[in-house]
Amino acid sequence: MPAEANRAVSERPRPEGTTEAVPGKTIGDYTHPDAVMSCRNVDVYYGDKQAVMDVSLDIGRNEVISMIGPSGCGKSTFLRCLNRMNDTIDIARVTGDITLDGENIYDKRLDVVQLRARVGMVFQKPNPFPKSIFENVAYGPRIHGMARDKTDLEEIVHESLERAGLLKEVKDRMDQPGTGLSGGQQQRLCIARAIAVNPEVVLMDEPCSALDPIATARIEDLIDELKQKYTIAIVTHSMQQAARVSQRTAYFHLGILVEVGTTDHIFTNPTHKLTEDYITGRFG
Ligand SMILES: Nc1ncnc2c1ncn2[C@@H]1O[C@H](COP(=O)(O)OP(=O)(O)OP(=O)(O)O)[C@@H](O)[C@H]1O
Ligand SMILES: [Mg+2]
Repeated sequence: MPAEANRAVSERPRPEGTTEAVPGKTIGDYTHPDAVMSCRNVDVYYGDKQAVMDVSLDIGRNEVISMIGPSGCGKSTFLRCLNRMNDTIDIARVTGDITLDGENIYDKRLDVVQLRARVGMVFQKPNPFPKSIFENVAYGPRIHGMARDKTDLEEIVHESLERAGLLKEVKDRMDQPGTGLSGGQQQRLCIARAIAVNPEVVLMDEPCSALDPIATARIEDLIDELKQKYTIAIVTHSMQQAARVSQRTAYFHLGILVEVGTTDHIFTNPTHKLTEDYITGRFG
C-alpha cells in the first residue's frame, strides 16, 4: 500500500451515516453495466447462523473483482454461492437471486456440473487430481465432450497449459503426476484445469496464500493476462494483491457487503469507516 494512499484516506470528509454495517445498504455502485453474474439479496445460513446477509453485487465481464475483509466475514461463503459449491455443505442454505448471463443458477433444472464448468474454481491449497499432468487438464474437456479426437484433446491440454504459463515447464513430463510439481506449478496446473473447459468466470479463493512471493507474482501476472478472456473473482487477504490485480474491490464485514467500488477508490478514498479501518490496518 503506498503511503500517500493512507494519507488521502485520513484527510477526506466522510458523508453522514457511513460508520455502521447495515445489511443490504452497500455503499457504492454494486451494479455493473456489462454484468456476467448478478447477485441480488443473497443470504447464506449455516444451520441457524447467518454467514452472508442481503448481498447484492454484479460481476462484470472481463473484470477482476477482489473480495476483501476480516477473517470469518463470509468471503469464501459468498464466493461459493457463485458456482453452487455451498450445495456440497449439508447445513448451508442459500436464498436470493444469482444469475449467470441472465439465467438463474439455482434453477432446479440447471445442470450443476455444467455450471461449475462455466464458473470454475481455484482453491487456496493447490489440489491436483492424483493423475498425470496431462490427465489433470484433459479430465474436464473429456467429460464435457469438448474434444473430437485425441489430437484435439492434446491441443486443448497444451493450449490451457500455455495460457496458465506452465507449458514450458511441463511439456517434457506430461505423463508424470501433477502432485509431483512445486506448489506454484500445482496452482498453475489447477488454473489450467479450470480454464480447459472454457469457463466464463473463474473464482479464486486466496489462490496464493500457500505460495512464495515469486510463485505469487507469477499467478498475479497470469490473472492479469487471463482477464482478457475470463472474468475473475478473487478472495484475498493481501491488500497489495487486491490493489495489483483487480479493477473493482468489495469489502465485507460480518457477512455484510459494506462497500464496493473501483479498487482505486476503495484503497485511496473509501467512503465507509469500516473499509477505511480495514485498509489502513486498524481492523482485521
Ligand atoms: N461449513 C461451515 N459450517 C458452518 N459454519 C461455517 C462453515 N463455513 C463457514 N462457516 C462460518 O461462516 C462464517 C463465514 O465464513 P467464511 O469461511 O465464508 O469466511 P471468510 O471471510 O472466507 O474467512 P477467512 O478469511 O478466514 O477465509 C464464519 O462465521 C464461519 O465460521
Ligand atoms: Mg475464506
